[in-house]
Amino acid sequence: MLDVVFAKSALPKSGALVLLIGEGDKPTGLWAQADKATGGAIARAFAATEFTGGKGKSCNALAPGAGLSRVLAIGIGKAADRNAQKLEDIGGQAVAALAREMVATVATDGLSAAEAASVALGATLRAYRFDRYRTKEKQADKPKLAKLTVLAEDAAKARPAYAALKAVAEGVFLTRDLVSEPPNVLNPAEMAKRCLPLRKLGVKVEVLGPREMMKLGFGALLGVAQGSVNEARMVVMHWNGGPRGKKPVAFIGKGVTFDTGGISIKPAGGMEDMKWDMAGAGCVVGLMAALAGRRAKVNAIGLVGLVENMPSGNAQRPGDVVKTYSGQTVEVINTDAEGRLVLADVIWYCQQKYDPAFMVDLATLTGAMIVALGHEHAGLFSNNDDLANNLLAAGTTTGESLWRMPLGDAYDKQINSDIADMKNVAGGRAGGSITAAQFIQRYVNGKPWAHLDIAGVAWHGKDTPCVPKGATAYGVRLLNELVAAHYEK
Ligand code: BES
Ligand code: MN
Ligand code: ZN
Repeated sequence: MLDVVFAKSALPKSGALVLLIGEGDKPTGLWAQADKATGGAIARAFAATEFTGGKGKSCNALAPGAGLSRVLAIGIGKAADRNAQKLEDIGGQAVAALAREMVATVATDGLSAAEAASVALGATLRAYRFDRYRTKEKQADKPKLAKLTVLAEDAAKARPAYAALKAVAEGVFLTRDLVSEPPNVLNPAEMAKRCLPLRKLGVKVEVLGPREMMKLGFGALLGVAQGSVNEARMVVMHWNGGPRGKKPVAFIGKGVTFDTGGISIKPAGGMEDMKWDMAGAGCVVGLMAALAGRRAKVNAIGLVGLVENMPSGNAQRPGDVVKTYSGQTVEVINTDAEGRLVLADVIWYCQQKYDPAFMVDLATLTGAMIVALGHEHAGLFSNNDDLANNLLAAGTTTGESLWRMPLGDAYDKQINSDIADMKNVAGGRAGGSITAAQFIQRYVNGKPWAHLDIAGVAWHGKDTPCVPKGATAYGVRLLNELVAAHYEK
């Protein structure tokens, strides 16, 4: 992780200097000092590029003098339209532009301690890279930035503000690592193993294997897993930071470490993407790390159902009927609609055993979700308006947008089966994300619940200011914010 240190304002003698310039600002503080030390080089660069601090604009003055490798000025627009998210983006933008520098200093003159911490968070999030499997990359081609000094007027206040954000960033990175891992490495047992270090943060971690789940009667989850030589796992994580005896909040993740579709096999093109079919589970693990890392005053539980969906001589067939842990039976029409089968058993277990205040599940559940919302919003389905509204608000705060989708009896009846209590897909493709959500709703037992279909947002094909392309860890910051805003009182 990028090493971020906060210091009192002082002109650096080397490396890159980043100035954050508001629209129409006059040169004061570090800006004026740097301009003077470089004999007016900054003023000349601004004039030459017509840079006036407009939001999204920047000016890059290379080797301006005074020992500095560059001065990068980034426009932060008008004070009135700044918020945490925009400042994070600026931090991210700075890091993207400074990848070739070894050390850099960001001046945050005029910003509050909290705002300086937001800039630092954005820088941290953007500096992530998954390079575990690159053995031949030339040293010269790697991003070099390892240390970022943030100059803040109130450095003493910015430090603790950043520490809480950094714990969340650690959770985000854990999720990004898990989701990025290839599927030959990250099978269910390996993913369960990677939950164990959360114990060092004070999280209680339990791991259940196929025998335990068989005893409980997890017929749906184990039906999906039976075609793979890699055994299933369920991991239950507990963070007890809240008052003793207070009902926990619960997060449940779909963790299909690879989804071939099973006997209803997927086409070859793009199948490699199905390594990230465990992103819901990856989010839950990162979230638990974030909550524990910042000592959140909440009782939270995280449950992940981990399986690999493979075709084989022992795989589940279309037409099989399985008995779920709830006792309800399911006719498996399509073995590729496996996520809902995994969630059915884990969600029933969660509400039976822990009686949570609410449950939020995350799943890369349906391709139809991408058809509906593209890559800009995750789908939100809920039986509880307060929970839904709190989630929508948290998404606006963190920039992980949600769009509420409908539920209803007319959709629900489409998953009735002729020979069992339900089937795992509706008759046609219409409303495929909704009928999938209806299936899950049959396992929530009336408890307050929300389902986030993150199929379109778990992985990004291109960089955004705070999320390098690849695994986004969508949901970690969102659910951390949900907890912070409503459940730590
Ligand atoms: N993991 C997939 C959904 C998915 C597809 C996520 C593409 C991300 C990108 C899920 O298990 C699946 O296969 N769903 C099927 C459901 C269908 C058989 C009703 C789908 O969406 O095609
Ligand atoms: Mn599938
Ligand atoms: Zn899947």
